[in-house]
Amino acid sequence: MKTSRISGFYNKTLNERMEIVKSFSDLTDEEISLLKSQMDMEIANRMIENVVYLNDVPVGIATNFLINGKEYLIPMAIEEPSVVAAASNAARIARAGGGFRAIATEPLMIGQVQIVNLSDPYSAKFRVLENKGELIKIANEQDPVLVSLGGGCKDVQARVLDSSLGPMVIVHLIVDVRDAMGANAVNTMAEAVAPKLEEITGGKVYLRILSNLATYRIARAWARFPRNVIGENAVNGIIYAYEFARIDPYRATTHNKGIMNGIDAVLVATANDWRAVEAGAHAYAAMNGYTSLTRWEMDKEGNLIGTIELPMAVGTVGGASSTHPKAKIARKILGVKNYMEFAGVLASVGLAQNFAAIRALSEEGIQKGHMSLHARNIAVMAGATGDLIDRIAEEMVRENRVRLDRARELLKKYRSD
Ligand code: MEV
Repeated sequence: MKTSRISGFYNKTLNERMEIVKSFSDLTDEEISLLKSQMDMEIANRMIENVVYLNDVPVGIATNFLINGKEYLIPMAIEEPSVVAAASNAARIARAGGGFRAIATEPLMIGQVQIVNLSDPYSAKFRVLENKGELIKIANEQDPVLVSLGGGCKDVQARVLDSSLGPMVIVHLIVDVRDAMGANAVNTMAEAVAPKLEEITGGKVYLRILSNLATYRIARAWARFPRNVIGENAVNGIIYAYEFARIDPYRATTHNKGIMNGIDAVLVATANDWRAVEAGAHAYAAMNGYTSLTRWEMDKEGNLIGTIELPMAVGTVGGASSTHPKAKIARKILGVKNYMEFAGVLASVGLAQNFAAIRALSEEGIQKGHMSLHARNIAVMAGATGDLIDRIAEEMVRENRVRLDRARELLKKYRSD
């Protein structure tokens, strides 16, 4: 049976790893050669403006993920060492507790329309609500395909905000965007209803744009990390780390950054708008005073239970995730069928990343792991190649002298041996 539980993946050669991914995800030979090649400059040139060259970010595969009983290999594009290894390691421990469970709400996005110059904002708000049916109709005329798939504008809400420039009515279109990230659909609808809103309220519309605080589009994941696998000290350390993040925004920011290390890496690999998810995550964490996006607690048997909850405005259709050739293959590797599944995977990766970070921080610290990876980079910078990279890195870590000058000395020594 297909499993993502692969021991020693990191010890395999680049080609061996590719072969494992190929057979796990049924990749074709063409897809493999596409992954190994550079993006066509013509595609890049159509993607953004003023293109000059391509940037390179390594994509690693996090192994061991079991989510809702399904096996996943997770492609992660990131320049930071340790993140992929940490996610794989956390996922290995979570599977000992049955793997991750994950759920997501319906994909409801919010489109905002700002109305100003209102003398009677409260009655304007009520008139907007009175005309909800007409507004929904106008919005849905913009996207018959989305509506035919069961999506579209489902509700209209309105708020009166007091501002230093006078009252504003802020209208929210609640739009089910199905498997898309939804920015285009929502923005088009927000622009389309604006003239009608001016007519209804007698005010003037300025902004028409989605909100990245997608509070109706929430992904949740949880997992049990058995005490007999990680030990009581780790359980206690993680709960203390969580409590620190819960009560201190300075710590919570770093704690959440660790979560986003994992989520963003998957979003970059799949060409999703990671800035949108970042913005939403941190705003969600700040809704009642900035705090942790995860919670850590102990069950009756003393096992560690982690939960995570955050907005997840991502898509499996549309946008760059459908046009970027490697991103499409990354999604195939991931094997997610729709938005709901994707959102659950992302939340699970975030939880795994957080577990790994706060476990390391509360026990040996993160520098030990970082240092050995850092040492390899230093060895490469000194000019080491092949086997010498690991040999020099290991020696520098052993001596606790991870420095460029030492790497150069060792390189000279080994080359003259
Ligand atoms: C580093 O990229 C992420 C951590 O700082 C996260 C954390 O402190 O929880 C290790």
